[in-house]
Parts: sequence; structure tokens; C-alpha cells
Amino acid sequence: MKKGILMGLLMLLVLALAVGCGQPAEEPSDSNQKQPAEQTEQPKEENNEPVELVAEYVGSETCASCHADIAGSWAETLHTKMVQDANDETMIGDFDKEGNPLETTGLSKDDIKFTIGSKWKQRYVTEQDGDLKILPQQWIVKTEEWTDYHADEWEERVYEDKCIRCHTTGYNPETEEFVENGVGCEACHGPASLHVENPAKVKPVNVAELSAERQVDVCGSCHVRGKNADGKRDDALGFMPGDNLADHYDWLVPKGEDEKRFYENGDSKSHHQQFNDFIQSKHYEAGLSCITCHDPHSQGAAIGQLRDTPENLCFSCHSEGDLGKPFDLSKYMPKRAKSATPGDITTHTFRKP
Ligand code: HEC
Ligand code: HEC
Ligand code: HEC
Ligand code: HEC
Ligand code: HEC
Ligand code: HEC
Repeated sequence: MKKGILMGLLMLLVLALAVGCGQPAEEPSDSNQKQPAEQTEQPKEENNEPVELVAEYVGSETCASCHADIAGSWAETLHTKMVQDANDETMIGDFDKEGNPLETTGLSKDDIKFTIGSKWKQRYVTEQDGDLKILPQQWIVKTEEWTDYHADEWEERVYEDKCIRCHTTGYNPETEEFVENGVGCEACHGPASLHVENPAKVKPVNVAELSAERQVDVCGSCHVRGKNADGKRDDALGFMPGDNLADHYDWLVPKGEDEKRFYENGDSKSHHQQFNDFIQSKHYEAGLSCITCHDPHSQGAAIGQLRDTPENLCFSCHSEGDLGKPFDLSKYMPKRAKSATPGDITTHTFRKP
């Protein structure tokens, strides 16, 4: 969001002025998020008390000016396409087909502000009385059909309360503004205005330097299902890269066969539960993390942001004796969970068949 980037730049200016005058930089009043893990250079007040500067979100376009290669390959990932401004190119649903959400709501295409998703399904966001709402039908990519999505209660479900932290970067609940749509650089590296100001001295969170568990928490802050610590939100609002996710979030755990979100053996039935799956695995116990296999910055050598083909990845640690020949990924990572159609999402519990 241009507005958000401007806000970020403005904050930079304010911070720079504050430092320049030897005045303590005030914590911006519109931020109720906790302090990022970013190391900060500490200017001294006259009494020599260190003053901590708070980093702000600046948006991925700012990072791209110095990290052009990473920004170029990241732009190709689905992370950047999660939420897009609605236009004829981004709206992939067939609005001439019966049962579409314009037909059921009486709205027009111009009323659609954003699209959400594109790989498995697509949902549409409109603005009503200052809140964002998700239209009551969704487009299923595989079957090319419209299906109902909370059709009876869509006007009560507010996007900012239900979805926003998992789909945007830099959301501030007080102003209800976010810095950019999709998973930007700072979703994984934390707000980085101080780094931009002084790259040699101030480093953003480098995920590679976190423990495996904290690495998994960075991805798991979105690839997860459960409730925020206040019990009210589904997203992990308040979590910052480097934090322990458990301090902010109560994720669902499998509790037997009646559970709506898990199969009896603990594999997920629903999508965005890769974290809930993975923490049950021997891989997690052994200290692997999501980025052992996934490339955070590029679509990678194969599908789904993988660092290599699944076969090469698995055999970089396992032998044929271990995993069997001919190698069959679906034995170890069966597609059992559902995003849009049954079995369209891969299981991450890595059980022995
Ligand atoms: C003005 C140029 C510039 C901008 C803008 C910039 N960076 Fe950097 N960044 C650097 C330089 C230079 C380094 C290497 C610093 C070093 O190793 O001394 C670096 C290093 C990093 C590192 C590695 C840190 C480490 O521990 O080695 C990360 C992560 C990073 N930048 C992320 C970002 C993100 C995210 C943004 C946007 C919010 C951003 N950078 C914007 C110049 C920039
Ligand atoms: C806890 C984080 C989280 C919350 C909350 C969340 N999502 Fe998602 N969503 C994800 C992740 C991660 C994915 C992709 C991975 C997957 O589906 O397994 C996803 C996938 C999707 C997709 C499919 C994307 C595609 O390319 O097909 C849609 C559509 C979607 N979400 C809409 C929503 C809406 C609407 C809400 C709020 C009502 C919401 N999500 C709430 C994390 C979340
Ligand atoms: C999905 C999470 C995620 C996103 C989004 C992301 N990064 Fe990273 N970044 C990582 C991880 C994880 C590492 C550790 C190195 C690795 O695994 O390849 C890393 C490492 C880095 C490094 C230091 C090492 C290197 O590869 O040079 C820089 C610089 C960096 N990221 C910049 C960026 C910039 C700029 C963007 C946005 C254009 C970005 N990152 C987006 C997760 C992410
Ligand atoms: C801010 C929330 C957020 C964070 C943090 C995040 N993701 Fe995602 N991720 C998503 C959403 C949302 C999607 C779905 C994008 C879409 O469908 O357009 C997604 C999609 C993916 C995909 C599917 C790509 C494909 O082409 O099918 C992979 C793999 C993935 N993420 C891995 C990771 C890893 C690894 C990390 C940590 C380094 C991470 N994500 C961090 C929200 C997040
Ligand atoms: C970085 C190394 C590494 C990679 C890559 C890796 N594994 Fe593993 N895997 C391990 C370790 C370590 C264990 C735990 C010790 C053991 O049981 O051998 C393990 C255990 C397993 C188990 C046994 C679980 C159990 O309950 O006993 C399965 C199945 C498995 N891995 C499948 C895979 C598949 C499939 C891939 C590729 C998608 C893969 N692994 C990639 C290191 C790796
Ligand atoms: C041992 C390797 C390995 C690890 C560790 C791993 N993944 Fe995956 N992941 C895969 C493979 C292989 C696929 C692709 C399966 C396919 O598309 O056929 C995949 C697919 C995905 C997808 C695409 C959606 C789907 O299921 O089709 C997402 C999202 C994802 N992984 C997220 C994560 C997250 C988040 C973590 C950490 C909690 C993680 N992965 C850990 C190997 C791994």
C-alpha cells in the first residue's frame, strides 16, 4: 500500500530528526506491537541513558533497491500474489457463470477491492461501512465452479479481524492499516526501517541465525491453525520473527477422531496447518525446519518453493533402504488435507507408511 510506505518513510524522517537533535525518539503512539528483535543503535540522552529506537515497516519496494536479486525471485513466489488489487487480470473467477457473488449480492465488479488466492481457490473482498468483508461465494480453480462461503453471515465477518495478519505485512490494529498486501520481506525479517537507514550497523532478523524451533515459528505464524492468545483472533497478531510462537498463539492439537481439523492419526484435514502437522514429526524432533526444504525467496528448482526436487531433497539425508524404491513421495507426504477440493494439500507429519 502506497499510503503505508509513505507512513513508513515519514516515520524514518521523524526518527532521523529525533536522533539529529539528540532528542529521545518517542515510541510512535499508533503502535501497540511489541518491540522487534532488531538490534538498534542506541543514541545517548544527556544523562547517558540509552534510548531505544523502534523500527517501522517500510515495505518490500524499499528493500528491493539494495537487494534486487532476492526481491526479483521473491516476486515470482505465491507469497506476493496472495492478496492483489482486483482487476480483470487478477480476478480469475468466471463472473458469467451462475451462482457468482455479484449475482447473489447485487454488487458490481467495481465494488471488489481485493482478490485473495489464486492457486486453489479465490475469494473476493469488498468494503462496507469502513470494514472489509469477504463475498459469500468463492471460485474453485480445479472444478471451475462457484461454491458458498459463509453465505448467511458474510456481512458479519470482518476481514481485518479474521484473516489479515496471515495475508498482509505490517498490519497495525489501531489504525487498521497495513504496509503491503501479501507476504513481504518484513513478514519474515521483522520491521526494518533502522536497517534501511544504516545497513552496515543495524541488521534485521536473519532467520538462518535463529534456532530451528524459532525458524519454524516464523513460517508457523501463518501456516498454522488455532487462536491468538486473547482467544479472539485466528491469526497470530503481535508475533514478530524471532519470538516464540507459543507466547502469542494457542495452536490446535489433534484430540481424537471427533476432531474437525485432524484425522485419527493426527494428520491435518484442513489447510494452513503445516505447522500443526510438522511439530508432530520426527523431522521437527531432529531439528529440521521448514527452510531445510523450502526456499523462502524463490519458487525454487521444483514446485512450491522447494530447494530441490522432492526426491533429491529426501535422498540428501535418507537412503533407498530408508525410503524404498521406486521412491514415492505420496507414501510419506500423502495429500490428505483440503483447501478447495479434497486432498489438494500435502501432509507434513512425515510418518512411516
Ligand atoms: C540501503 C541499502 C539497503 C536497503 C534499503 C536494505 N538493505 Fe538489507 N542489507 C544491506 C547491506 C549492505 C547488507 C549487508 C550488511 C553487512 O553484512 O554488513 C544487508 C543485509 C541484510 C540482511 C542480512 C543480515 C545479516 O544478519 O547478515 C537481511 C536479512 C536484510 N538485509 C534484509 C533487508 C530487508 C528486509 C530490507 C527492507 C526492509 C532491507 N534489507 C533493505 C543493504 C540494504
Ligand atoms: C493463521 C493464518 C491464516 C488465517 C487466519 C487465514 N489464512 Fe488463508 N491461508 C493461510 C495460508 C498459510 C494459506 C496457504 C497454505 C495453505 O492453504 O495450506 C492460506 C490460503 C488461503 C486461500 C487459498 C489461496 C490460493 O492460492 O488458492 C484463501 C482463498 C484464503 N486463505 C482466504 C482466507 C480468508 C478469507 C481468511 C479469513 C476469513 C483466511 N484465509 C484466514 C493462512 C491463513
Ligand atoms: C517467507 C519468509 C521470507 C521472506 C518473505 C523473505 N525472506 Fe529473506 N530470508 C528468509 C530466510 C529463511 C533466510 C535465511 C536464508 C535462507 O534460508 O535462504 C533469509 C535470508 C535473507 C538474507 C540474507 C542471506 C541471503 O540470502 O543473502 C537477506 C539479505 C534477505 N533474506 C532479504 C530479503 C528481502 C530483501 C526480502 C523481500 C524481497 C526477503 N528477504 C523476503 C526468509 C524470508
Ligand atoms: C505472513 C504470513 C506468512 C508467512 C510468515 C509465511 N507464509 Fe508461506 N504462505 C502464506 C500464504 C498466505 C500462502 C498462500 C499464497 C497464495 O496462495 O497465493 C503461502 C504459501 C506458501 C507456500 C506454497 C507455495 C506454492 O507455490 O505452492 C510455501 C511452500 C510456503 N508458503 C512456505 C513458507 C515458508 C517456508 C515460510 C517461512 C520461511 C513461510 N511460508 C512464511 C503465508 C505466510
Ligand atoms: C536434512 C536431512 C533430512 C531431509 C532433507 C529429510 N529427512 Fe527425513 N528424517 C531425517 C531425520 C534426522 C529423521 C529422524 C531420524 C530417523 O528416523 O531416521 C528423519 C525421519 C524420517 C522419517 C521417519 C519418521 C518415523 O516416524 O520414523 C520419514 C518417513 C522421513 N524422514 C521422510 C522424509 C522425506 C519423504 C523426505 C523428503 C521430502 C525427508 N525425509 C527429508 C532427516 C531428513
Ligand atoms: C523434509 C522437507 C520438508 C519440510 C521440512 C517442510 N516441507 Fe513443506 N513441502 C515439502 C514438499 C516435498 C512439498 C511439495 C509436495 C508436492 O507439491 O507434491 C511441500 C509443500 C508445502 C506447501 C504447499 C502446499 C501443499 O501442501 O501442496 C506448503 C505451504 C508448505 N510445504 C509449507 C511448509 C511449512 C510451513 C513447513 C514448516 C512448518 C514445511 N513446509 C516443512 C517438503 C517439506
